Amino acid sequence: MDPWLKLSVLVFMWFSFNSQLSLGADTISANRSLSGNQTIVSSGGNFVLGFFKPGNSSNQYIGIWYGNKVTQQTVVWVANREIPVRDTQSSELKISDGNLVLFNESKVPIWSTNISSSSSSSVVAVLEDSGNLVLRDGPNSTTPFLNKRTNQSQLLISWKNSEDPAPGLFSLELDPEGTNQYLILWNRTIQYWTSGAWDEQARIFTLVPEMRLNYIYNFSFHSDENESYFTYSLYNPDTISRFVMDISGQIKQLSWLEGSKEWNLFWSQPRQQCQVYAYCGAFGSCTEGGLPFCNCLRGFHQKSQSAWNLSDFSDGCERTTKLQCEENRTLTNGKPDKFLTSPNVKLPQNAQPVTATSISECESTCLQNCSCTAYAYDSDGCRIWIGQLLDLQQLADDASDGKTLYLRLAASEFSSSSNNNGIIIGAAAGSVSLVLVLVIFGIWRWRRRTTINPKAVDGSLLAFGYRDLQSATKNFSEKLGGGGFGSVFKGTLPDSSVIAVKQLESINQGEKQFRTEVSTIGTIQHVNLVRLRGFCSEGIRKLLVYDYMPNGSLDAHLFHEEKSKALTWKTRYQIALGTARGLAYLHEKCRDCIIHCDIKPENILLDAELCSKVADFGLAKLIGRDFSRVLTTMRGTRGYLAPEWISGVPVTAKADVYSYGMMLFEFVSGRRNSEQSEDGKVRFFPTLAASVMTQDDDVLTLLDPQLNGDAPEEELSRICKVACWCVQDDETRRPSMGQVVQILEGVLDVNLPPIPRSLQVLGDNSEHVVFFTESSSNQSSQTPSYTSTASSQAKSKTSSMSS
Ligand SMILES: *[C@@H]1O[C@H](CO)[C@@H](O)[C@H](O)[C@H]1NC(C)=O
Ligand SMILES: *[C@@H]1O[C@H](CO)[C@@H](O)[C@H](O)[C@H]1NC(C)=O
Ligand SMILES: *[C@@H]1O[C@H](CO)[C@@H](O)[C@H](O)[C@H]1NC(C)=O
Ligand SMILES: *[C@@H]1O[C@H](CO)[C@@H](O)[C@H](O)[C@H]1NC(C)=O
Ligand SMILES: *[C@@H]1O[C@H](CO)[C@@H](O)[C@H](O)[C@H]1NC(C)=O
Ligand SMILES: *[C@@H]1O[C@H](CO)[C@@H](O)[C@H](O)[C@H]1NC(C)=O
Ligand SMILES: *[C@@H]1O[C@H](CO)[C@@H](O)[C@H](O)[C@H]1NC(C)=O
Ligand SMILES: *[C@@H]1O[C@H](CO)[C@@H](O)[C@H](O)[C@H]1NC(C)=O
Ligand SMILES: *[C@@H]1O[C@H](CO)[C@@H](O)[C@H](O)[C@H]1NC(C)=O
Ligand SMILES: *[C@@H]1O[C@H](CO)[C@@H](O)[C@H](O)[C@H]1NC(C)=O
Ligand SMILES: *[C@@H]1O[C@H](CO)[C@@H](O)[C@H](O)[C@H]1NC(C)=O
Ligand SMILES: *[C@@H]1O[C@H](CO)[C@@H](O)[C@H](O)[C@H]1NC(C)=O
Repeated sequence: MDPWLKLSVLVFMWFSFNSQLSLGADTISANRSLSGNQTIVSSGGNFVLGFFKPGNSSNQYIGIWYGNKVTQQTVVWVANREIPVRDTQSSELKISDGNLVLFNESKVPIWSTNISSSSSSSVVAVLEDSGNLVLRDGPNSTTPFLNKRTNQSQLLISWKNSEDPAPGLFSLELDPEGTNQYLILWNRTIQYWTSGAWDEQARIFTLVPEMRLNYIYNFSFHSDENESYFTYSLYNPDTISRFVMDISGQIKQLSWLEGSKEWNLFWSQPRQQCQVYAYCGAFGSCTEGGLPFCNCLRGFHQKSQSAWNLSDFSDGCERTTKLQCEENRTLTNGKPDKFLTSPNVKLPQNAQPVTATSISECESTCLQNCSCTAYAYDSDGCRIWIGQLLDLQQLADDASDGKTLYLRLAASEFSSSSNNNGIIIGAAAGSVSLVLVLVIFGIWRWRRRTTINPKAVDGSLLAFGYRDLQSATKNFSEKLGGGGFGSVFKGTLPDSSVIAVKQLESINQGEKQFRTEVSTIGTIQHVNLVRLRGFCSEGIRKLLVYDYMPNGSLDAHLFHEEKSKALTWKTRYQIALGTARGLAYLHEKCRDCIIHCDIKPENILLDAELCSKVADFGLAKLIGRDFSRVLTTMRGTRGYLAPEWISGVPVTAKADVYSYGMMLFEFVSGRRNSEQSEDGKVRFFPTLAASVMTQDDDVLTLLDPQLNGDAPEEELSRICKVACWCVQDDETRRPSMGQVVQILEGVLDVNLPPIPRSLQVLGDNSEHVVFFTESSSNQSSQTPSYTSTASSQAKSKTSSMSS
């Protein structure tokens, strides 16, 4: 068996021959070639083919980009990736000897489809609305052509940088060994990510569990004796979505947002930038969470600043001062090389183990070899590195897996005074730094005096100085958690009240706008919302100060294995109700409706009495455009995201209702929706719950086993019904948060929900058919109808939410 491995992701080009044909604006034929600014456009206008210039480059390429709705030129395929042309007027793309061929300015063929040996003059190239470019033989021709079958694996290869489509270092391909898994490789050799094997029953790649929570893409994997490939289609044909091997070394799925006219990243792997092998190049160091990600090690500088400016770090860094052993021997007056201690790093690969009984023996082994650039000596013994250091990562100060690397540098890198002038320079430098110290001390004193008492802004909100927060948090030493917006630290104010300080990352706001937004958030106060006490805004340093919540976030209470600590049903119900009240307040009672955008257990905090408080509200607006990026790279968030986040329609408060519904299911099961599976059989809990509800099965079977069935059936069933209404695909069918509160309070009752289409898709195949018939045949259950319950005093009311 020699599988012809084929990678087939959203836009793949195939060259096949078939018969029907119409010569139109979408076709290149014997007497219609392409030059200059001419283009061909697919019949429905979805795609355009022609010459383009990437970014500020002066090189021109033949490519295909989105037409119509996608207003940013977004190239999906490039023909002559490595051989650009400069003058498009004298270059030509045309049919030649049965192939589509690009001729450069000197009429030399520089790119060809190279699949046909026919010299038929009836061959044409047609750009289809799917984005595929198809080579066909003649109008109505029936000439069969054989597909060329080779052992070649089709790769998806990143661009070199944002202005150069030449093949970069990162590529995605199907495992050449023949297993059904995708690999991401660096320089076609070193693997740094795998999708895990395709699981046909679950229809996911085993190491990409988030595929299970998908309601947008229909994934399938094809494998037979001749070929293997993965494809997907979109359930909603109006969604514009693309999958790319990005210059960042990550695979990314993006969708076009019609409203804001931009691409929205909604999934990427590897999740962390620094997991991309050698992302920062030789002698570069990658820092997660810091911007820029890449920096040169001390004693090194960027090899090509222009490439770094284009986010291409692959050239890495080079030594600023030669090592002593590399110097011209005849001029040798240098001191022996020294080693710089670099703590908290993830060591580079390709270490060579060396026998050494002490650190000095390890060091001298390295010194004896001029190619030795670093060593490490710890409980794993002595290791040295010869030549380039690749894939080095700077870890956080508190990282448990951090190691220490000793980096070899020329002695002069350690001090600048190496000759007689040194004394004078040293003395001058000494007095300069003394002055500096005095100045700094002065500024510090001045700052302390002006900020020792935070100023009250807008009545209740306090403006803190950075130094105050630094000392309140003992220099940000006690980390409470880290979300997409930034890390949170515990602190104590001089009046001994305990605070949580959030260091915001990636704020694009101007000072005035920031203060306006913050003071808006400051006015929002409700028993089920975490109170913002103040903020700090000094240059790029933006911090928010909140009340400290001693019981932490809900996820820690909900998802753990210790039975004795399981939250009782009563507590869960109260938390669900409290959260709903907090959200209803945000949506309906504030002056401007505030959409939270990131409802999940991590953002529900619990005070000393386990009363729930919604955290992080208002931040979506504060973060602005970067929010979608932050949202999608956050662990676990995706399972709570409403479909409209991806489909491009405007996001309303109903997106929060969706996320809230997903979370309610977790209140019931005590497990993450994304982690539901029993005996290897994949079962998405919300689908299971929805089916139990509609089939009138025993709802107690859904309850978290840790509760031993200790929950009133009526409340359990009510929560499941509400959850199922909340996660309807059509946002107009979801209840408002205010209605949710009333249902949970028992004031309103609600009818049985239909199973949302997204849940049907997620369910397993045998149940799929049943679900579909049920929900589509039962039109009366398509909208919720609310009736006030007999026990309540509320006025009788029946409402339908659908317009
Ligand atoms: C293309 O060329 C053929 C003959 O070579 C001619 O009959 C036909 O009309 C031409 N078509 C167009 C669109 O110019
Ligand atoms: C195409 O190029 C020609 C000649 O350079 C120019 O006159 C024409 O305006 C261009 N058309 C477009 C649509 O840019
Ligand atoms: C092109 O260059 C200009 C100025 O030099 C810069 O502002 C712009 O961002 C560049 N465009 C791209 C796509 O790099
Ligand atoms: C066209 O391509 C040929 C072969 O690559 C090259 O020798 C020639 O210089 C190119 N012409 C121009 C004008 O770049
Ligand atoms: C076409 O393929 C042949 C053989 O595989 C190769 O020698 C030739 O360079 C290719 N031509 C172009 C223009 O790519
Ligand atoms: C090609 O097929 C179309 C319909 O499929 C037919 O109308 C047309 O006459 C055919 N043309 C030729 C040259 O056979
Ligand atoms: C493909 O590779 C297999 C083994 O790797 C070999 O036996 C076979 O001949 C190759 N086929 C082609 C068309 O190169
Ligand atoms: C990638 O591998 C090739 C050999 O396959 C090597 O020549 C090249 O230097 C490597 N690139 C980098 C950046 O190390
Ligand atoms: C999903 O795709 C497969 C294969 O492409 C197709 O057979 C199936 O009908 C699709 N499912 C849905 C629900 O569209
Ligand atoms: C694989 O290719 C052979 C030769 O072209 C063909 O006879 C066979 O039907 C193909 N198998 C499948 C499953 O398409
Ligand atoms: C790179 O960017 C920096 C700042 O944006 C600029 O000063 C520098 O000139 C750029 N260097 C090159 C080579 O483009
Ligand atoms: C070494 O120094 C000598 C004398 O200054 C000079 O002639 C020679 O070119 C130098 N060699 C190198 C490799 O720099």
